Amino acid sequence: MDLVVRPAEPDELRDVANAMRVGLLNAHVGDEEWDKWRLGWETGHLAIGAWDGDLCVGHAGAFHFDTLVPGGAWLPTAGITRVGVLPTHTRRGLLTRMMRRLLDDERADGKVLSSLRASEAVIYPRFGFGLAGEAVSVLVHPHRVASVSGAAPGSMRLLPPDDVLSTIPDIYRRSCQRPGALSRSEFVWTRVLKDAADAEKATFVVVHTAPDGVDDGYAMYSVEWTDRSFADNVGACDLFDLFGTTPAVELALWQYMVNISLLRSIEVENRPLDDIVRLAIPDFRAYEVKQRWDEQWMRLLQVEAALSARTYRDGSPVTIAVDDPWYPENCATFRIGADGVRRTDATAELIAPIEAVSAAYMGAMSWTDLLSTGRVSGDRQAAARADVLFAQRPTTWSGTFF
Ligand SMILES: CC(C)(COP(=O)(O)OP(=O)(O)OC[C@H]1O[C@@H](n2cnc3c(N)ncnc32)[C@H](O)[C@@H]1OP(=O)(O)O)[C@@H](O)C(=O)NCCC(=O)NCCS
Repeated sequence: MDLVVRPAEPDELRDVANAMRVGLLNAHVGDEEWDKWRLGWETGHLAIGAWDGDLCVGHAGAFHFDTLVPGGAWLPTAGITRVGVLPTHTRRGLLTRMMRRLLDDERADGKVLSSLRASEAVIYPRFGFGLAGEAVSVLVHPHRVASVSGAAPGSMRLLPPDDVLSTIPDIYRRSCQRPGALSRSEFVWTRVLKDAADAEKATFVVVHTAPDGVDDGYAMYSVEWTDRSFADNVGACDLFDLFGTTPAVELALWQYMVNISLLRSIEVENRPLDDIVRLAIPDFRAYEVKQRWDEQWMRLLQVEAALSARTYRDGSPVTIAVDDPWYPENCATFRIGADGVRRTDATAELIAPIEAVSAAYMGAMSWTDLLSTGRVSGDRQAAARADVLFAQRPTTWSGTFF
């Protein structure tokens, strides 16, 4: 029987959720869990399923949000998510068909970018995605941090659980300083802040307030206790969000974190490569990087709109030809300079497949490195000029998992 790929009907959402879960080697969704999370399937999400007769055998979906790009514009984005095919039905082209349908529909709906988090690094380049932002997982040893320099003045307060959802989203939005940041929907906030709002676990949200009375940063963390003897009990902290409107506010939040009594360790899954706190402590080995990982995969859906929406550093212009086998409208040569972007008939100095220009777009991947590794072709001096134009500091980082 033919395998069918199409959008899921509202009454099929639980079936596609189960197919995705089994594809990802997880149990089916329980009733209670479904009641809690069905909103995130029903709103702000496009669900494409695959069927073998009546049996749902795969799913790929897209959240809708905006992504901050260099220069400050927020671009509509399809966040590819919940991808899974039953092990009985893999390698028969189902993901390829679901991805094509998703990207076609999202592009037609005006999304300029698409991004995702990948379970495996080899899956998505074939669909035009490039690695556009990295992150680190770290272990901070608070007792080895004698001081944090550069912290902003202000005060700290712990939020009552009932105030968490009404207070934090606004501070987050004002704290988005780095390209790669995502707008978070109500559903995402409910998920991110759940433990702090429920108050069932030892999860806390601390807010930093500037001397003028404006809340300008927050951190959310939880603590677990190792069950050792009373005299040797150890508090292990997982730090989730830590965002401030300025680097100095983030340093004030770090100062608070490392000064909490009884904590022996602070683990953070997702921080930027150039986390400022590493330089602000006397013993930078107290900020131990455990892993560097691929955070944000990106695909430009509308190349000209995307290239035109970001800004570029001062430097000599460069001409880049883009090749996109899925969308011929994206295939063109662009002159890119500090003064903007326009199509040109001039000979291209660099030739980039869609996954390469998508990787370089946010300034996290170097054109010179892409050239050196054969991912783009062309002229080395042009790649060096492109690196100047596309350069981004602070580094691109999202900080939101989806
Ligand atoms: C990843 C997954 C969705 C791929 O689905 P699929 O239907 O088998 O993919 P397709 O058949 O469309 O594969 C298209 C191509 O990608 C390749 N490919 C797909 N997944 C791959 C993987 N994990 N590793 C290496 N190659 C892979 C296929 O070999 C195929 O190559 P070809 O065109 O040269 O023949 C499926 O393997 C799966 O459910 N994996 C477990 C869950 C998971 O990791 N989900 C992703 C979460 S981000």
